[in-house]
Amino acid sequence: MRKILVTSALPYANGSIHLGHLVEYIQTDIWVRFQKMQGNIAYYICADDTHGTPIMLMAEQENISPEELVEKIHKEHSKDFEDFCVNFDNFYSTNSSENKELSEEVYRALVKNNKIFEKEIEQYYDPDKKMFLPDRFIKGECPKCKTKDQYGDSCESCGSTYNPTDLINPYSVLTGAPPVKKKTRHYFFKLSECSDFLSKWTKSGTLQKEASNKLEEWFKAGLSDWDISRDAPYFGFEIPDAPGKFFYVWLDAPIGYMASFKNFAKINKLSFNDFWKKNSEAELVHFIGKDILYFHALFWPATLEYSGYRKPTKIYAHGFLTVNGEKMSKSRGTFITARSYLDHIKNPNFLRYYYASKLNESMEDIDLNLQDFSAKVNSDLVGKFINIPSRTSGFISKYFENKLVPLKSIEDKKARELILGIINMKDVVLDHYELRMFSKLIKLLMGQVEALNEFVSQKEPWVLAKNKDQHKINSELHQICSTCLNAFRLISIYLTPVIPELSSKIALFFNESPYESFSNIETEAVLITNYVHLLQRLDLNDIEEMVNSNK
Ligand code: 2FM
Ligand code: ZN
Repeated sequence: MRKILVTSALPYANGSIHLGHLVEYIQTDIWVRFQKMQGNIAYYICADDTHGTPIMLMAEQENISPEELVEKIHKEHSKDFEDFCVNFDNFYSTNSSENKELSEEVYRALVKNNKIFEKEIEQYYDPDKKMFLPDRFIKGECPKCKTKDQYGDSCESCGSTYNPTDLINPYSVLTGAPPVKKKTRHYFFKLSECSDFLSKWTKSGTLQKEASNKLEEWFKAGLSDWDISRDAPYFGFEIPDAPGKFFYVWLDAPIGYMASFKNFAKINKLSFNDFWKKNSEAELVHFIGKDILYFHALFWPATLEYSGYRKPTKIYAHGFLTVNGEKMSKSRGTFITARSYLDHIKNPNFLRYYYASKLNESMEDIDLNLQDFSAKVNSDLVGKFINIPSRTSGFISKYFENKLVPLKSIEDKKARELILGIINMKDVVLDHYELRMFSKLIKLLMGQVEALNEFVSQKEPWVLAKNKDQHKINSELHQICSTCLNAFRLISIYLTPVIPELSSKIALFFNESPYESFSNIETEAVLITNYVHLLQRLDLNDIEEMVNSNK
């Protein structure tokens, strides 16, 4: 049995969960559910990422304390995840005592290992607001193409990247005042000294091929030391023995993975060290978006290595989400929050299924085409999958008191082949889950669903039912419908990690408790309940209303 600690990236506590975020949470949740159903010990750990300037300023704007803001967002996020069946074992906060202690401890270990140094730097400062300005809070003219109102790090018009100090006529986004250059002492992590360790580590099978290639580019360009401090005012943890200096949010955020687990371990009487000490036998798997690869594949393993902890076993990066082929956009109404989806479309299974049908093991972007989304879920889930019980269960109820023929008594050759084929897919199904080849897996399973529908069409149970002889136990009608229902049940078990809520309803239809293990494949259903509608079609109007309400 494997022991696996799995994480998704921690969402910032200054915004709502949207459909872009959900790609990752759904991908991870499917993978963790799969691991649990296989009998492995897997813990899905996450938290809100609560620190930094944007959160501090947002709280100020709302006239509440950052703690209050973080608390409010935590409730909102928790509910969104719950309603999308994203089943964290712990969803915590980086603004916690565990995280403070661990961040301080990690920092002290880095100091002891001579990996931290102090340096004076010059930064832009807003004299009116009396604070140093992060790059994103400074705007000005692009030094290259002279376009006005460009951010301090890159130009949206010509794409060039630069330092905020290169901007022409810079101004503070907060007050409009021209920022002044001011000296300050910062703390740096000696990442440049970690190249050898990192280049070895990144070749140890932890990363996808595309990610390793990206890292090669970074190694070639040379690693720069990493500024891990920020000046007050800052919402975060003060650095030990450095009054007025705070840990940069990206220092304590990944430590939040450890802190959330520590909190979980305490409540559940598990050993924190079993999962985090050097040479731990447990696996540590991070799911992330490709935009934060630098933090997870360079800073994070280096931080762990030089503070005496274990390193990640796997880092799985995914691509971005586009909606209707373009970046999500508020003006087009495609910047859709999780809540807005739930308000309009309601059913989380649809999005989970659609994402699964698009996701694979690569870092490629995926597109949510809303037209295709509705066509696909209606065709696959309603038109084909749920169509199986809706075409066959009525006969079982009407003529056979809801009882199914045991599989060993099925005589029809084609029926036996169909069932055996599905049972024998188990290893292939498990491999596809393990390797995150969800899209291929969905294709395979839908292939079986189509074969079953064809079988029903060929056998025409509605024609058989016209013959009174067919109303006898173990008649062809009874066998055909029983086969289809048991086959449908098996496919539902395979699909449980993807559509857990629908799968629970299906289990109930078979008088069973929710499928928590793939060993359910070895058993069969004997009795159904009277058929109730398991799934409602997705209405295109709901999508249209959702898009309009987001404009
Ligand atoms: O990019 C983000 O949204 C960050 N909040 C992710 C943090 S992940 C981890 F390192 F904490
Ligand atoms: Zn430019």
